[in-house]
Amino acid sequence: MKIATILGTRPEIIKMAPIIDEIKENNIDQIIIHTGQHYDQEMSDNFFRDLEIQTPDYNIHVGSGTHGKQTGHMMEGIEKILLKEKPDIVLVQGDTNAVLSGALVCSKLHIAVGHVEAGLRSFDMTMPEEINRRVADICSSMYFIPTENSAINLLAEGFSRKNLIITGNTVVDACFRHLEIAKKRGFEEKSLKDLNINDMDNILTLTMHRAENVDNKERVKSIIEALKELQDMNIIFPIHPRTKNMLEKFGLFDELNKLDHIHIIKPIGYLDFLLLTSKSTLILTDSGGLQEEAITLNVPALTLRYNTERPETVTAGGNILVGSNKHTILKNTNRILNDEKFAEKMKNAPNPYGKGNAAKKTVNSIKKYYDKGLLNINAPEEIMNSFTRKMSQITEDITVDEFESFENALIHMVFDGEEMIFPKDELNLKGMTIIYDKYDI
Ligand code: UD1
Ligand code: UDP
Repeated sequence: MKIATILGTRPEIIKMAPIIDEIKENNIDQIIIHTGQHYDQEMSDNFFRDLEIQTPDYNIHVGSGTHGKQTGHMMEGIEKILLKEKPDIVLVQGDTNAVLSGALVCSKLHIAVGHVEAGLRSFDMTMPEEINRRVADICSSMYFIPTENSAINLLAEGFSRKNLIITGNTVVDACFRHLEIAKKRGFEEKSLKDLNINDMDNILTLTMHRAENVDNKERVKSIIEALKELQDMNIIFPIHPRTKNMLEKFGLFDELNKLDHIHIIKPIGYLDFLLLTSKSTLILTDSGGLQEEAITLNVPALTLRYNTERPETVTAGGNILVGSNKHTILKNTNRILNDEKFAEKMKNAPNPYGKGNAAKKTVNSIKKYYDKGLLNINAPEEIMNSFTRKMSQITEDITVDEFESFENALIHMVFDGEEMIFPKDELNLKGMTIIYDKYDI
């Protein structure tokens, strides 16, 4: 079996690293294709070094540009490589332009796509990431899903349950593994001191880079107005290149940079960043990955957005959406700083993203699919079976697995009262209402 991984930005490298490791552990052939979307040393190469993963076999060097230019260039490059390498499955992760391009190319070449972190939805169609993840889901054969909530998003859109594999999020694998490595290597305060971070009290780690925030002058200004008032905090701001460019363009960079309590630094390596965030009192961010890492590291997060495709972090109590409104940001920050009980509750929010074995679950299920021939995509040679969709109330003790084999059916949705729950094989359906597809033979 040969597995190809496509990645191109910082979060994809971090979140695919545990899977790349696991593929290697299993002695499976693998190739890594870097689109080159992120190319600065501190946004790309440093992560291959820190996370100890092999350098990519190919780099398409797309660089920066409009969405059309980036996506077109990536598709051309990826197609050429896949025609030559002929992998059995291609893995894409998340919602970047690499995911969109990779998934589209594979679907036309009839190569199976495994979408890592599938099923997330912000329901905001103005976000490029929402389009990317939805298209990738349409083109995929295997879905590696972080939570039941995301699986339910896919069921509600009509995706078959058969290929939805709930794994947790590989960010938890990455976080646990690398925090441990960072501590062992004595990174601790030493490397943070190298970054001129001496005062470890009251740290607020800030990251922002979302187009809808940093490309919008009014929104950035409003966030900066809030930051100016947080003088009791030691704000560490590893700045994303997009954000630096936009702040300079808006003439806001110097104003922010000269504030004593705000420490703007270049993007930092993963080991340093994990140490920094784990020692923070609070995280202020619009990053997707950081919302997940905050709840994994038990640090309260305020998210500078009006929606999130990670609602589990909010319902679990570890994350609050504050948008870009100055008063909402300040009100919630002050509550975390001054209300100990509230802060503790946020810190202790249960992590919805699993136990750190997402990579193992992902690779194990790929092996199973490969062994059963399920990764082959062939045009049909038989007349399709037809099915009827039915609804039923279950009164007896019967599991999903048992029901499906007795009835020659696939359960699509399960309702426990008004709540929709994910039909896991071992779930007892007694008292529940189900919608299922019954196949005619
Ligand atoms: C991309 C992803 C976003 C992800 C983010 C992670 C898409 C549509 N967006 O956004 O989902 O959350 O990566 O960080 O795929 N630049 C540099 N050096 C670099 C890379 C970028 O200077 O190494 C600058 C360029 O001016 C570029 C800008 O940053 O125009 C934006 O980069 P781009 O790759 O278009 O999108 P991101 O904002 O990084
Ligand atoms: N990160 C990092 N160094 C930094 C800032 C962030 O290593 O200076 C990591 C962070 O731990 C997280 C990932 O980068 O795992 C998030 O990337 P980003 O915010 O760029 O993208 P998103 O997750 O929003 O797609």
